Amino acid sequence: MPTKSIATHDTTNEASPEQAAGTTNGAAANGSADVVELDLTDPQFMATAYDTYAKMREEGRVARVRFARPENETEEEARRNAFFRRDTWFVTHYDDVVETLLDDRFSVDVRSRAAAEDGKEPEVPEEFRPLARSLLTIDPPDHDRIRKLVQPSFTGRTMNAMRGKIEEIVNDLLDKAEQAAAERGETAPNRRLELVEALAYPFPVTVISDLLGIPREDRERIRGWTENLLRVDRARDRGMNEEVRAGLREFTSYLQELFERKRREPTDDMISNLVQTAEDGDILTEEELLATVFLMYLAGHVTTVNLVGNGVVALLTHPEQWARLTADPALAKNVVEETLRYWGPVDFVGRRIATQEMDVAGTTLEPGEEATVSLAAANRDPAKFANPDAYEITRPDANRHVAFGKGIHVCLGAPLARTEGQVAFETLARRYPHLRLAVPADDVTWGGSFLRGFRQVPLLF
Ligand code: HEM
Repeated sequence: MPTKSIATHDTTNEASPEQAAGTTNGAAANGSADVVELDLTDPQFMATAYDTYAKMREEGRVARVRFARPENETEEEARRNAFFRRDTWFVTHYDDVVETLLDDRFSVDVRSRAAAEDGKEPEVPEEFRPLARSLLTIDPPDHDRIRKLVQPSFTGRTMNAMRGKIEEIVNDLLDKAEQAAAERGETAPNRRLELVEALAYPFPVTVISDLLGIPREDRERIRGWTENLLRVDRARDRGMNEEVRAGLREFTSYLQELFERKRREPTDDMISNLVQTAEDGDILTEEELLATVFLMYLAGHVTTVNLVGNGVVALLTHPEQWARLTADPALAKNVVEETLRYWGPVDFVGRRIATQEMDVAGTTLEPGEEATVSLAAANRDPAKFANPDAYEITRPDANRHVAFGKGIHVCLGAPLARTEGQVAFETLARRYPHLRLAVPADDVTWGGSFLRGFRQVPLLF
């Protein structure tokens, strides 16, 4: 397979975009290392990424990585992005990935890097502040205080209570798909279904809204706003245009009114719990409440869409694995774990900023330098998993994957994501044992960005 998206440069000969933008990252001590350029804008990036990661993993414990600058980026965007697009140390071995994620000398707050350098923080427009300061991007003690307040919404008990609702949502969507196929005059097993549009995309957003306690009658109203929110995230570094900002303002004021309503008349849901909770005197500020609600949609939606899409494509392109599942739908639990290992929705997590001089996988990082941790590389590390490039739903140790991260930022929604995945795979296997791809496997292509997921999954059912 070609490794078009991997190109090595010698930093001694070429100025990085940051250097060009007039900033340096203090990496002089390591300045002679080769740099691997990862081009997330290349449509082939995802298709060849596992080869790229394998090559890096074979060549050493860390690689110096630079993310390519999009061709159409304006100078202003480049200036703003320079803060986020610095060369980074890319960690690829399973044990090093775990160790890095557990190391509390890293900060995830960009302000700590600003403090280590010139004190200048990246500019963040007013509407984006709750997005820029969520659990994912703040350090203890604030991180731990907020997480402790949100965690009770994700207990096993809550998830068991959600399971029935999730089954209902999935079955309703599939009933609708059947009805639409009937209206087109199609019959089983040759009815057409585009999985992402019909099931994978709509169901997690409904589940999150249920969990939060967004009234059902408001769902149509908030749909555009949640889509807008996802657009912001995709275009976080770019396109902060007035339309997107206006959408965020509207969603914000809707949520503020909802918080007020739930304070007055609490119901049994996450927002009610959050606006009421005061544990050890702790309570979330209005901005923290907003940040938490936004994060649920941002962290919990596309990731779950991708888990479902990736799992279905993996199963249908490995027919013997699909046959095992249809023979025993209880294997859906294993399908979730093996899919997370084999094609996890998050290839890597960045922004681990050294707060002091420290050793990372045998390399010295100066304060302010950043490590990026490749969950995808760790999940295919042959030192950890036997025959790592094979998709085997009965693999006994699949659940040792790091697809949900590790350490204090480990995915809060993992129990929910697992339940959603299990319900989706189990229901599809029970209802449609003859399910198959409607197009050749090569025509099912990955979307862009560091999130791994198929744009469309055309099926026959
Ligand atoms: C298959 C689906 C999912 C995957 C693969 C996934 C993956 C991840 C990963 C890798 C992290 C850690 C990021 C880091 O360390 O920088 C994370 C954090 C997080 N995830 Fe998920 N996630 C999924 C679903 C969900 C869902 C359904 C929710 C909630 C509705 C959710 C909420 C969160 C939150 C709140 C955090 C931040 C935790 C913290 O910083 O303390 N995720 N997720």
